[in-house]
Amino acid sequence: MRHGYTIAGLTLLLLWGCGGVCALDAFDTNTTATGLWIPVQNIRDLCKAGQNYTDANRAYTFYTDHLTTPKSGWQCMEVGDAPFRYGNETGFTSTWTWPPSSPPALNSYPHAHSLSTQLPVQISNLNTVWLYAVWTYGVGNGTVNNTDTAGVERAGMKAFVAAELFIDADQARSADPGDAATKVAIWLAAYGGVLPAGYDSKSSLQTQVFGGTTFKLYSDNASPQTTYTWLAASNMTTFYSDVSQLIHSLPLKQRESQYLGAYRFGTGAYSTDNGTPVTFGTQVMQLAVVPGFPKSAGVLARGGVRWGVLAGAMLLAVLGGRWCI
Ligand SMILES: *[C@@H]1O[C@H](CO)[C@@H](O)[C@H](O)[C@H]1NC(C)=O
Ligand SMILES: *[C@@H]1O[C@H](CO)[C@@H](O)[C@H](O)[C@H]1NC(C)=O
Ligand SMILES: *[C@@H]1O[C@H](CO)[C@@H](O)[C@H](O)[C@H]1NC(C)=O
Ligand SMILES: *[C@@H]1O[C@H](CO)[C@@H](O)[C@H](O)[C@H]1NC(C)=O
Ligand SMILES: *[C@@H]1O[C@H](CO)[C@@H](O)[C@H](O)[C@H]1NC(C)=O
Ligand SMILES: *[C@@H]1O[C@H](CO)[C@@H](O)[C@H](O)[C@H]1NC(C)=O
Repeated sequence: MRHGYTIAGLTLLLLWGCGGVCALDAFDTNTTATGLWIPVQNIRDLCKAGQNYTDANRAYTFYTDHLTTPKSGWQCMEVGDAPFRYGNETGFTSTWTWPPSSPPALNSYPHAHSLSTQLPVQISNLNTVWLYAVWTYGVGNGTVNNTDTAGVERAGMKAFVAAELFIDADQARSADPGDAATKVAIWLAAYGGVLPAGYDSKSSLQTQVFGGTTFKLYSDNASPQTTYTWLAASNMTTFYSDVSQLIHSLPLKQRESQYLGAYRFGTGAYSTDNGTPVTFGTQVMQLAVVPGFPKSAGVLARGGVRWGVLAGAMLLAVLGGRWCI
């Protein structure tokens, strides 16, 4: 009987320790393009500022997210419902042109906002954050099968492709991108020389290598919302990885007790030359959050005291069981 307690205790401890350390090897770095366009149905166009559409699976809300009111230019998103068999994978396109300005202005961020029922989640209970996206950028009103880098360069396109996550010590505020204290942007591509807030060519706050690229961290220190940006070293067009590491390593005070409340993916649209339209098309995208033991070793180290207390409590329970029987 008492061996039963001991074995159960040791197994639990092992699972716990393994959750923190063993899983480090388990980061998915599969960035193979699937070549699959999700066959979205009930297609509709969102062309106006302030428009949004929630899909039939209630997995995402698509937002046009016009951030300015330039004198010229336009943007239209094509959104719809992904067939249920694709789970929460979906796709959308956005065609736009905005006039150049000096300094360059971010005019819109057409995006898909995850309606995951796992959000908000306390960061100490954040196991996995899937970011799966396959997309293309090309010149004209239609989606292209392969990104036309030379073409968008000729069109003078200034844009980025990024996932954004929001964090706050307050659970409700973390779910509101406009209200959360911290925004974490993951820039997978940047065209036409646009750079994240706080970019410094000589130094970054941190470097992380995974998902087929190197990410460097920059931050502005703006109030009321601070932005941390992880910038990829190369222009990706396919990304399939767990990005929870990019959250667990942020230099935030009381990070693990704060909440991750919102998660979205889209393109930041600045401008193109001469009113040339460009089209961003996500063939496939999926944003997913899995609660559970964090995988990051840093968390284990910082949580050392708490773990120690727990281990002690378990030992006492095991010993107690032994004395009582
Ligand atoms: C990578 O992902 C693709 C598409 O999901 C899959 O077909 C392939 O088997 C995966 N490769 C590895 C090495 O896991
Ligand atoms: C979304 O669209 C609806 C109308 O369809 C509107 O009432 C609502 O305010 C919009 N929400 C946001 C956050 O823009
Ligand atoms: C899709 O998202 C919904 C809402 O968050 C969730 O309940 C469901 O489990 C997800 N389905 C899959 C296949 O991930
Ligand atoms: C692209 O769409 C815009 C807006 O609907 C339209 O004015 C323009 O003529 C289209 N261009 C082409 C080449 O179809
Ligand atoms: C894109 O790929 C699809 C499927 O392979 C094909 O039917 C279509 O013709 C291609 N479009 C272009 C513009 O090459
Ligand atoms: C991404 O592509 C753009 C083309 O506009 C180029 O200017 C930029 O240097 C590329 N970024 C990286 C990191 O290679």
